[in-house]
Amino acid sequence: MLRALTILCLLPLASTAVADLANGKQLLQEHCTKCHDDSVYKRPDRFVTSEAALRKQVDRCHLNTGTQWFDTDVDDVTNYLNKTYYHFK
Ligand code: HEC
Repeated sequence: MLRALTILCLLPLASTAVADLANGKQLLQEHCTKCHDDSVYKRPDRFVTSEAALRKQVDRCHLNTGTQWFDTDVDDVTNYLNKTYYHFK
């Protein structure tokens, strides 16, 4: 009984933010280091100033990588960048 409850409690965690961030991180490391490294996300004069602008920039930049992404991939990378560097609410 206790074990069943534990499993039920853990399931929602596994399927939400955690997996998405891991996917975002992996995509970023695989496809987004050709032209710039992560210093552009950390510089004081970075030009992305909102989460919407960040998503737009990820979308724009990903077109340069020559890879096909789902909308959810763009979301995952946007979320990862926001959580790790930008911290927009
Ligand atoms: C073909 C080259 C190229 C590739 C590949 C590329 N970018 Fe960029 N990216 C740029 C350029 C150029 C800028 C503007 C840099 C500057 O202003 O100094 C930029 C800027 C950015 C910024 C804005 C930084 C700021 O000032 O806030 C983000 C976010 C970003 N890129 C994300 C990505 C992501 C995510 C990927 C992978 C999907 C990626 N980039 C791949 C060329 C590229």
